Amino acid sequence: MELQKPRGTRDFLFEEMKERKFVEKTMKKVFETYGYQEIKTPIFEDLSLFTLKSGEGIIEEIYHFQDKGGRDLALRPELTAPVARIYLNQLQKSPKPIKMYYFGSCFRYERPQAGRFRQFWQLGCELIGGKSPDCEAEIIALASHCLEELKLEDYQIHLGNLGILRGILNQEGVSNHQQDQIMAIVDKGDVLELKKLLKEFKIDEKSGNILLELIGMHGHREIIDDVKKIIADYPSALESLEELEKLLTMLESFGFRDYLVNLGIARGLDYYTGCVFEIYVEGLGAQKQISGGGTYNLIEVFGGEKVESTGFAFGFDRVMEVLKIQKTKPPIKSRLEVFVAPISPETKLNAFEIAQQIRKKGIRTDVELVGRKLKKILSFADNSGARFVVLVGARDLKNGEITLKDMRSGNQEQIPIETIADVLIQRINSLK
Ligand code: HAM
Repeated sequence: MELQKPRGTRDFLFEEMKERKFVEKTMKKVFETYGYQEIKTPIFEDLSLFTLKSGEGIIEEIYHFQDKGGRDLALRPELTAPVARIYLNQLQKSPKPIKMYYFGSCFRYERPQAGRFRQFWQLGCELIGGKSPDCEAEIIALASHCLEELKLEDYQIHLGNLGILRGILNQEGVSNHQQDQIMAIVDKGDVLELKKLLKEFKIDEKSGNILLELIGMHGHREIIDDVKKIIADYPSALESLEELEKLLTMLESFGFRDYLVNLGIARGLDYYTGCVFEIYVEGLGAQKQISGGGTYNLIEVFGGEKVESTGFAFGFDRVMEVLKIQKTKPPIKSRLEVFVAPISPETKLNAFEIAQQIRKKGIRTDVELVGRKLKKILSFADNSGARFVVLVGARDLKNGEITLKDMRSGNQEQIPIETIADVLIQRINSLK
């Protein structure tokens, strides 16, 4: 029987894991410099957490099951709903704003293709109890800071405000449920389907045409004035546009000018209410969106008070893919720094003892475990990236010494056993 991993999942081997760890650490460090603290939530939750307000698309994509107690559970497709639950369960009384970040796998039952998996990782954050547009500006600056830190090039941040489209639809008396359906189609960018839906929902022709015009509008700040003219008869949409304008001004204080206004951003999830943004990298093709987020009202939907919340998540796998395409190799450590080699079977136990001494100083060290001859050990140590080999021979041991071999220069020298770990620390540090 051939054992296969499930469709849409991946195994990660050593080098790739080191690269992923490096990127994870780099991004987490940036989140922490903005005052975010890490949280972890369960991989599975009650199904209802996601069906309540995550949107038609997500619900169809959820992996769900009943456990032995008959409870309806789901593998999490995203982490904003779990964070809103944590807030309601434990953090309502905490001083605000609360800044939380997370890194974890998500599961969506979708058609696997390049950059689209059934298990994938998100690194994201939620800022609960802040004020727009201040927190939105800071969050967008944070997202862009992460990408700068990774030296990721050629990304574009697109900004919009859902209040503009929803303002028009509200004025037309379109129900929330119908609005969610419209937003889902806008998110897919399917204009034909959208036209059909606008007709079906009997949306006034003028408003329908304005909607169609708006979703095609993207450009620099200058387009705001054009939009103002187009939506002049829709006061609540205008208010949202002004919010967006304020956000753009504020972003400049955060040192950030490189964005595009894009009124076609609708987001695939239903809980967004105000500012939304997505980050694209064209080189990725169809799955070019490496991050998405915005301001949402999930806590209120879950029965809490109205608390302004903003967040975003990077599709971690897509960020890794961009770095690969760009040929940016994260610096990775070799498996080993030191290999301890008994020269003969009699010195094996001494070798174990010495290896332990060195490991306790935090040096990546391996010791011979399969009884190979010295020549083979040296070649294995070299392939494992060990710069130094500690040769443990009976004659040296009698003098209280070992032989230290530098694999790069080939030099060998005798060192007192009790000083070997300190000598290695010095040598390794001098190489950094
Ligand atoms: P989302 O846009 O659904 O937003 O997902 C965030 C990111 O996860 C996407 O931009 C994309 O890069 C990545 N992603 C989504 N699906 C897949 C997949 N099947 N395979 C690989 N990568 C994928 C959210 O999930 C929101 N919870 C973000 C947020 C946080 N909004 C507010 N706070």
